[in-house]
Amino acid sequence: MPSAATISKKTVEDVDLAGKTVLVRVDYNVPFRPGTVEIADDSRIVASCDTLKYLASKRCKIVLASHLGRPGGRVVEELRLKPVAVRLSQLTDYAVETSLECTGDRVREMARSLPCGGMLMLENLRFDPGEESNDPDFASALASLAEVFVNDAFGAAHRAHASTEGVAHLLPSAAGLLMARELDMLGGALRSPVRPFVAVLGGAKVSDKLGVLSHLAGKVDILLVGGGMAATFFKAAGKSVGDSLVEDSKIDEVSEFMRDAADKGVDVRLPGDVVVADGFSATASHRVVASDGVPDGWRIMDIGPEAAGSFESALRPARTVIWNGPMGVFEWEPFAGGTERIAKALAGLSEATTVVGGGSTAEAVATLNLDGEMTHVSTGGGASLEFMEGKILPGVAALPDRD
Ligand code: 3PG
Repeated sequence: MPSAATISKKTVEDVDLAGKTVLVRVDYNVPFRPGTVEIADDSRIVASCDTLKYLASKRCKIVLASHLGRPGGRVVEELRLKPVAVRLSQLTDYAVETSLECTGDRVREMARSLPCGGMLMLENLRFDPGEESNDPDFASALASLAEVFVNDAFGAAHRAHASTEGVAHLLPSAAGLLMARELDMLGGALRSPVRPFVAVLGGAKVSDKLGVLSHLAGKVDILLVGGGMAATFFKAAGKSVGDSLVEDSKIDEVSEFMRDAADKGVDVRLPGDVVVADGFSATASHRVVASDGVPDGWRIMDIGPEAAGSFESALRPARTVIWNGPMGVFEWEPFAGGTERIAKALAGLSEATTVVGGGSTAEAVATLNLDGEMTHVSTGGGASLEFMEGKILPGVAALPDRD
């Protein structure tokens, strides 16, 4: 079992939990195969199990709370949490009871009559409008179910909702082991990286990453930029980008970022060659061209083989790596090469700390079966992005510091 090491927040290991009823906020916002109740990716459920096993070992009564999807404050049948409870039960071998409600006398009685180590999963928190509005009454109703609050939902920590923020002020609270690990790994890399520190940033839109780019510019030694967003960098440098997706409204910001990075002495590297296609489809014709020679009618879909090689060389001496955003449209085989080479390069860095942001980067690494080779793959999508931008996450801020 991992220890909740070095973070400044109080964790489950700092609190006397023996025999107590604990409300645990988890992020079980998992994808389902379309039209089924089959979970397509259970990594968030798997990642929560260390905390749950720890609480069970302390003979706690465990009340689980999560959202699923965006039902907008009303009941949506397809967004019930029952299939998640079934999966959790399979993964832990514990019985997991479910309630059709989140609050009220009936659910309070269910929580009270749990056996020690027993688990009860509340219904989707977002069926109640009070969750997203951080309604104090909804937060108190949740708090009345338990004696202690544990937040293990890093993936939802960027939301100031009743179950992530409000309730933390009403009960003795602590971070769960997953939350602690996320803060430890992402925070550790940003705060005190072993150098050289290399960041790899990609993804389709530069607008999603400008905050991260600016925050990392003061911290990293080398910044490798790939993905569709590289096109906006090329255009900002006056290169022709053919039909590539460019965010024209961000060109000035990108130019300013490049100037700022140069002032700070950050080595920003863009791909020297790219894979281009004559349409946005898996079967479009494609070829490799120099990045300053994207012809009209063609668009950038991946970094090229030379760029992948030069990114691999930059990564080889690294001792800390943060990766957020795929290098191309990795879901389509002809454009998966760059992402695959970066994933393999990180997997081969046995002496480095490698931290992969959540969302599509985590998906790419999992598709390649390389998640086990990374030091840490974040369970947060938006949350890990905001964390890397240096923003305060309300769900973390609400937790008390260690004494
Ligand atoms: C996520 O999947 O990123 C989190 O569960 C947050 O979900 P939300 O974007 O619907 O708040």
